[in-house]
Amino acid sequence: MTSPSTVLLPHTPDHATYSNYVSVETTHLHLDWTINWEKQLVGGSVKHEMKVVGEEEGGLKEVVLDTRDLEVKRVEVDGKDAKFTISAAHETLGSALHIALPTSYAKGNTFEVLINYSTTADCSALGWLEASQTKGGLHPYLYSQSQAIHARSLIPSQDTPSIKSTYSASVHSTLPVLLSAIRISPSISAPLETGGKTVEYKYEQKVKVPSYLIAIAAGNLVYKEISKQGENGASWRTGVWSEPEQIEASYWEFKEDQAKFVAAAEKLTGRSYDWGVYDVLVLPPAFPYGGMENTCLTFATPTLLAGDRSLVDVVGHEISHSWFGNLIGCSSWAHFWLNEGFTTYLERLLMQALHSPAERGLSYIIGAKALSDSLEGFEKKGNKRFQRLVIPYHEGEDPDDAFSTVPYDKGSNFLLHLEITMGGLDVFLPYVQSYVKTFAGLSISTDDWKAHLYAYFTKNGGPEAVKKLDGVQWDAWLNGEGTKLPVDMSQFYDASLADAAYDLAARWAAAGSDEKKLAAFSKEDIASFGTSQKVVFLEKLETSSISPLAVAKLDEIYSFTQAGNAETALRFYEIALASGDAYAQQAAVWVQDKGRMKFCRPIFVAINKVAPELAKSTFKEHAGFYHPIARRMIAKDLGVKL
Ligand code: BES
Ligand code: ZN
Repeated sequence: MTSPSTVLLPHTPDHATYSNYVSVETTHLHLDWTINWEKQLVGGSVKHEMKVVGEEEGGLKEVVLDTRDLEVKRVEVDGKDAKFTISAAHETLGSALHIALPTSYAKGNTFEVLINYSTTADCSALGWLEASQTKGGLHPYLYSQSQAIHARSLIPSQDTPSIKSTYSASVHSTLPVLLSAIRISPSISAPLETGGKTVEYKYEQKVKVPSYLIAIAAGNLVYKEISKQGENGASWRTGVWSEPEQIEASYWEFKEDQAKFVAAAEKLTGRSYDWGVYDVLVLPPAFPYGGMENTCLTFATPTLLAGDRSLVDVVGHEISHSWFGNLIGCSSWAHFWLNEGFTTYLERLLMQALHSPAERGLSYIIGAKALSDSLEGFEKKGNKRFQRLVIPYHEGEDPDDAFSTVPYDKGSNFLLHLEITMGGLDVFLPYVQSYVKTFAGLSISTDDWKAHLYAYFTKNGGPEAVKKLDGVQWDAWLNGEGTKLPVDMSQFYDASLADAAYDLAARWAAAGSDEKKLAAFSKEDIASFGTSQKVVFLEKLETSSISPLAVAKLDEIYSFTQAGNAETALRFYEIALASGDAYAQQAAVWVQDKGRMKFCRPIFVAINKVAPELAKSTFKEHAGFYHPIARRMIAKDLGVKL
């Protein structure tokens, strides 16, 4: 149902790629890999099927691909050895791989480029775990994280979200291999081998995807099905993967919501789930994000296993990317908000559809605090460009450095603002569905999005609707800097679930260090609170700088450090570390197995403020635990050289 007739506006080139993707495009990519567990390398080949799309004088003479820290051994074009050069490495963008074509190709011509290569120890996309670092302790483990620009350290490729291709893969490994695609062989009913025998795993992704969605995980992995294809009329099946030791807990955490989220998202977007399979892989704790929307296979942090299903909204978020990000993608990282803003907007509509409007409101309230922190942070660091929704990147800048909640929360608030301005969900959801239908399969810019928005409402609302759109503060929303949104959106959030949390926080603030008043609190206070309400309570409390005595009471009464819920533990440690160093040691232990950057980065920074030696020595001692991406960010945050 892609609309090939959709005409996109001219795009500003992606600043983060060296590839000549405007001239030539990969239409299909085939990976033939062997996992070398001993040496911790992935090696083999990638074959690009390419098509010339640009008109160049004298025709196309070379292909330029992105690489970083790869060992390129041989290149063939249409089966014949080809000359290639690798340019000097840029610290973030890597090295351009220039491949000379044997003859020049005209627009419309197709050819194949085969590259023999191997990853190196510096590969930023791959996390390798020794057997001793896994739950089971018997087998090593491997997983990738390619967003934003790490795919180039795993695959010589056109590493830009502008280019999407189908892909297929054949991976040889002694341990089970999962890819962000549909498994062709071994068949889905076959149990996977862990007995040391090399097996060939074949996968196929028939929907076009950008390079950053090509993902791999391998290790002692088992599956548990949640629902089959055809169940309740679904065109997809869904389940969970993890190490055997964690499969029951993973299944329990997600089985109630996973299929419901996919079905509800299909209804809201007006388009069926395109990808055939929706599985969640629960990774080891070093995984640097909460979730990553790899196609067919969301990667998730084990910190979601709270034991009470209270953190499943992250799965709702990753499912929402199946439409926003994976189907309609941004054309460059400057427009990343189109992925995350729309996804966050849909995630919160799922909360409303499956739970209540108050859940949607609560989610916006928590988001608003995170947004305000990010905006303040960029204000202090003088990085005001990153406060913008559309980011004017500088040459060579790493999108990981701009990563924040701005695209998520400024983006989803902008969409909420438009929803309200245009007359509410009854009017806005049909628009969202038209957006999905118009741009499915494409990589678009903010201008494309806006042009369609205007076109849709011109057709479905006439001059009155257009007048409403004309009243929107476009420049302030899209390019505005500063610590506030152009419109105060908090007045629109349903605060009925947050109010109880605010009341409790006010009582704590009023109690101060008064022992008698503090003695009045009991764990009953929060007995009816969900995790999000506890988070709102703690975040409110954080603004009143409570005393070390009150912090100790807080811990004693509500046991946030014992509860095994990382979201509440994070906020508790933030409060505690703001009041002194009493919890520094305990926080330093807590971060040692929190690879998710949302948790480890702020805690390292907070420890660093009260106990700098401890922060640095803890990090240095455990640096090997973290994924290369997190390791780099923490090192930067602490000013430590590795
Ligand atoms: N796609 C992101 C993660 C990401 C973004 C990785 C940019 C690398 C670069 C993913 O969908 C995400 O947003 N994860 C969040 C989940 C949350 C907002 C519900 C996370 O990891 O915390
Ligand atoms: Zn996301």
